[in-house]
Amino acid sequence: MDLIHTIVAMQAAADAARQHPPTSLRSATFLKGRGLRKRLGLVPTMGALHGGHLALVREAKKQADHVTVSIFVNPTQFAPGEDYEEYPRTLEADMEALESIGRVDVVFAPSAEEMYPFGLPPFATVSVRDLDKHLCGAFREGHFEGVTSVVTRLFLACRPDIAVFGQKDAQQLAILKRMTAELDFGIEIIGCPIVREEDGLAISSRNRYLGSEERRQATVLSQAVRNAFGQVEKGERDVTVLIDTMQQIVASAPLARLQYAEIVDAENLQPVKTLRQGRYLAALAVFFGDTRLIDNTTLEIAR
Ligand code: PAJ
Repeated sequence: MDLIHTIVAMQAAADAARQHPPTSLRSATFLKGRGLRKRLGLVPTMGALHGGHLALVREAKKQADHVTVSIFVNPTQFAPGEDYEEYPRTLEADMEALESIGRVDVVFAPSAEEMYPFGLPPFATVSVRDLDKHLCGAFREGHFEGVTSVVTRLFLACRPDIAVFGQKDAQQLAILKRMTAELDFGIEIIGCPIVREEDGLAISSRNRYLGSEERRQATVLSQAVRNAFGQVEKGERDVTVLIDTMQQIVASAPLARLQYAEIVDAENLQPVKTLRQGRYLAALAVFFGDTRLIDNTTLEIAR
């Protein structure tokens, strides 16, 4: 596993890796007709790696011959007053976790100066519209522009064929899919299911900020989305009813402060009133003290 800190070295490593014929039979079969070029996978992260991140790495390993994990706490996606300074930076432990699951080829861990050589705020950004109006985008000014811009820079540095992201950040995933398709990056975006603790809490680097009582009550997020999912399975189609129940479940936790509970179309991320045939997202954000947690589930209605 190589640790690379600069963009030029990363680009050179990616180009060299692509030229090497793959060793596994599965890949050789896959690559028939494409020439003997390796398929490169990227898993972008901000480090403080946990089981959710490692599931993405495993998925990347299934789908690519060469896997890069990027670790970069991106300043431009944190709004003033958010936890950029406090965000855990644990490169050594992250490297060990990746070594332990094996066969990650490269860890790309650039500095902020490397990623933003002309200083902050950057001159060149990738702006998005509409898809960032609801859910987290309504409360985190500039957040998704920070994400699209840094992911673009990571794509240019790592030159992957596929990139893997978690459904945990469903709005991020939808926006990145749209950006990648619209700008024709030629990169396949792969989404992975949310990995949860035994009691249902979605694993997050921010869970470590929770006190023990907050941690106990934090299960209301997964209960709320699970309940919405169950109600829809039973035939409920009225979004007001579904959101009311989500709100009530969160309100049952005395330490929880709801930021939003919304149901939106899964593709254009606009709110809906009634569920018809299609895919929707039930999502919420909840504060425990200063710690902000999110969760979501996909609601699929066949007819
Ligand atoms: P980060 O919060 O470190 O998450 C990296 C990736 O891990 C994201 O795709 C996220 O959705 C996924 N992930 C986190 N927790 C998960 C869980 N419990 N189950 C499944 N996947 C999970 O998201 C970011 O970093 C940044 O915005 C980034 C894309 C790296 C750009 O800076």
